[in-house]
Amino acid sequence: MTRYTLSSLLLIMILGLGSCVNDPNSPGLEYMPDMYRSPAVEAYVDYGEDPYYVTEEVAKLQRNTISARKPVQGTIAQGKPGDFNMPYPYPNTDEGYAAAGANLQTPLVTNQENIEAGMEVYQIMCIHCHGENGEGNGAISTNGHIKGIPSYSGKLKDLPVGNMYHTLQYGKGLMGSHASQMTQKERWQVIEYIKVLQKGGEMPAFDENGNVVAAAETTEEVSEEQAQ
Ligand code: HEC
Repeated sequence: MTRYTLSSLLLIMILGLGSCVNDPNSPGLEYMPDMYRSPAVEAYVDYGEDPYYVTEEVAKLQRNTISARKPVQGTIAQGKPGDFNMPYPYPNTDEGYAAAGANLQTPLVTNQENIEAGMEVYQIMCIHCHGENGEGNGAISTNGHIKGIPSYSGKLKDLPVGNMYHTLQYGKGLMGSHASQMTQKERWQVIEYIKVLQKGGEMPAFDENGNVVAAAETTEEVSEEQAQ
């Protein structure tokens, strides 16, 4: 009995030692490489099987070759849903600005979630120039560094959202581009808040689902329109 135990222990030790190798990168002796390294071919990764079936040189080449085809030109990375990952179609010219103002519409609904998210972005990224109520009297303006920032409820009262977005994309005058600092969704959200500031800054009333209750305002607007 002990002899069997001893010899099987010895066998295990020999097998164990047999798997020791000097090269730290070598996995040692693999008894069934097919099972360790299944030949599945995955997109964008090298085929793990390589040095076993091909030479080191071919393996090196394979590692640098993606197995998926290169996406065609103009392909847009998908990203997470809601990333708004579309390229901006209007050029940084006067015509581009006019076209954006005429055609670009927000993909967002005007609701509590978007307005409040926009307000948060505004307070982080815009308030120091445009001021708390969007009158152009932020700290950088009142301390004299950038003068004459237009008021949202004044000069910019009727500015279309497409123009706002265009300005966030490319910048305008002394305002720099904000394209690299904000996601497309954040830009549209801050625009939702600017729309509130255009009307003087008072938050609309929301129902329990966060939708805007606009009954009183709509009647007012309608009667204004009828009066014209
Ligand atoms: C460094 C100061 C500064 C910051 C920061 C800044 N702005 Fe401006 N913004 C300006 C100035 C100056 C103008 C006037 C540009 C002009 O008409 O020459 C302007 C103009 C605008 C306009 C009107 C654009 C148009 O088409 O006439 C919008 C909308 C606007 N800003 C939104 C924002 C938002 C949103 C943010 C924050 C994400 C922001 N700004 C941050 C300085 C700033």
